[in-house]
Amino acid sequence: MLKSTIDKATGFEKRFENIGTIVYEDSTSASKSIAQEIAKLINVKQSQRQPCILGLATGSSPKGLYAELVRLHKEEGLSFKNVVSFNLDEYYPMEPDSINSYVRFMQEQLFNHIDILPENCHVPDGTLSKKEIRDYCDQYEAKIEALGGIDLQILGIGGNGHIGFNESGSLQNSKTRLVALDHITRVAASGDFSGLENTPRTAITLGVKKIMEAKRVILMAWGESKSDIIKASVEASVTNAVPASYLQEHRNATFILDQAAASKLTRINTPWLVENITWTDQLIRKAVLSLALYLKKPILMLTDADYIENGMSDLLADSGPAYDINIKIFNKLQNTITGWPGGKPNSDDSKRPERAEPAKKRVLIFSPHPDDDVISMGGTFKRLQEQGHEVHIGYQTSGNIAVVDEEALRFARFVCDYNDKFGMDNSDANAIYKKAVDFLKNKKSSEIDIPEVRYIKGLIRKGEARAASHYIGLPDTHIHFMELPFYETGAIKKNPIGVGDVQITADLIEKVKPHQIFAAGDLADPHGTHKVCLDAIFSAVKELKPKKFMKDCWVWLYRGAWQEWGIDEIEMAVPMGPDQVLEKRKAIFKHQSQKDGVVFLGADSREFWQRAEDRNSETAELYNQLGLSHYAAMEAFVRWHF
Ligand code: F6R
Repeated sequence: MLKSTIDKATGFEKRFENIGTIVYEDSTSASKSIAQEIAKLINVKQSQRQPCILGLATGSSPKGLYAELVRLHKEEGLSFKNVVSFNLDEYYPMEPDSINSYVRFMQEQLFNHIDILPENCHVPDGTLSKKEIRDYCDQYEAKIEALGGIDLQILGIGGNGHIGFNESGSLQNSKTRLVALDHITRVAASGDFSGLENTPRTAITLGVKKIMEAKRVILMAWGESKSDIIKASVEASVTNAVPASYLQEHRNATFILDQAAASKLTRINTPWLVENITWTDQLIRKAVLSLALYLKKPILMLTDADYIENGMSDLLADSGPAYDINIKIFNKLQNTITGWPGGKPNSDDSKRPERAEPAKKRVLIFSPHPDDDVISMGGTFKRLQEQGHEVHIGYQTSGNIAVVDEEALRFARFVCDYNDKFGMDNSDANAIYKKAVDFLKNKKSSEIDIPEVRYIKGLIRKGEARAASHYIGLPDTHIHFMELPFYETGAIKKNPIGVGDVQITADLIEKVKPHQIFAAGDLADPHGTHKVCLDAIFSAVKELKPKKFMKDCWVWLYRGAWQEWGIDEIEMAVPMGPDQVLEKRKAIFKHQSQKDGVVFLGADSREFWQRAEDRNSETAELYNQLGLSHYAAMEAFVRWHF
């Protein structure tokens, strides 16, 4: 466990962090430690015969915590009889039994599985008339006050820094009230509501004042997508633009983070600015590249003075002069660039990212959704195929929930009309499509698709993926649709990884016996699908490790549509010229159902092909700024050693 708190005595981290932060290896271990703190508090209160007042949050962040509290109840006898809970918020309007209500969330994640008394669970009421809300909010606060205030408040954090639904602009003394939701918040929630137009515009939230009055506050954040707002909340000044920054003024608030969420904190991102560090090769590379980019200088132009003036004089004393460090890092970066992602035959490969032998490799590319392959590594995919390797593609999930209803209806109608025309209206196939048409015409918002509709949506994506792979040049026999079962819930919320998922993955690896596996290492995917797909690959690879063919198997990780590897992490960069960029765009265009305002674009309104192009040209631009050759675009990979 990487663990650290602010050291007020040395003032080191205090220079940057204004809130106590604890960083854990992952969200599971972090959630367990929060659960331990809560359990301890409940027990202390129990021994004092007092109620324990908990402020609770919903969303993806506290799920692991609630699962651990349920486990502590079931396996270790933790009782919640003395707990009184107050949830932070609820959408308005909202029926308690709706699939997106926070009442239902709390029941499913926690309340139904522990012995808390139902009358002690409070979640703001989303069914009131507007007139009633004000009094209701006053009473909500009065109840908390009558019990002596919140003992421990659990918080997540929104991408804009909201706590509860106190959006940017909320005042520090704001009361419990009805609020309008930020566009960013609505976009983040829109997946759960099948599109922005169905997403509530308002919510009832506990005010910042009551949160600040809690005796203890724990804010939790997981994943890279939270890293920027965590840095802003912890290190920048207190501002109502980032309500979580108010917690800098709380006497007993702690941010509990996983490594990804903490990754932009100064002490983690640039530790040499905070304390004396042991310079590893990786850290030297990171520091030199950051210095060059910060000073907008090519690596080879950095001077001794640049190192000294930017907190790196110890490195200079140790490994300098600057010229020696510069040349070492420049060469390392140069060696990551290759137009031969499958290795260059008959050449010295001692400094290349991939082996020269065997010249013709078997390659297995895993794509979590049916378009991640071309979005994230379309250029490399095409090169591997053109350079004569035996390339296979494994589409891990059907991607069916990302197809909008109108698209499915259009295809279903096509089949029905076709069959009617040719007198096949009694066939079983026609029955499936007719059922789908009937369902879609009357579908209510946030209703889960029936299996027939999911099947059609899956077929649409299959057709598109096949078209893209054919465009790259793959034969049908090299295209594998894995349809991992964890994905097939019909809802955004997926099942956890199961043995079936790992088995299907292992079977495909064993069938292809690849020299290279390419997998999506993009853990910032907001819906978690990429993470489960990657976990399935990791488990399968570990399981297959003793087999002979695995000795020759290298695993390369690419990133998905949301993030790119840091320049200091990249181990293979595959350059593309302008024509190759256009070819990649055409492959992405084969995924027609994902164009023009798809369901899951997230807060970024660029389409996937635009993001891919921007990102690949940004990587190329970084190499250029650092003094290396200037390409139109570059796809980046990191090797995973198993
Ligand atoms: C939920 C709440 C919100 C969330 C925040 C983070 O009750 O009040 O502030 O904590 O939007 O959401 P997740 O955890 O889903 O990233």
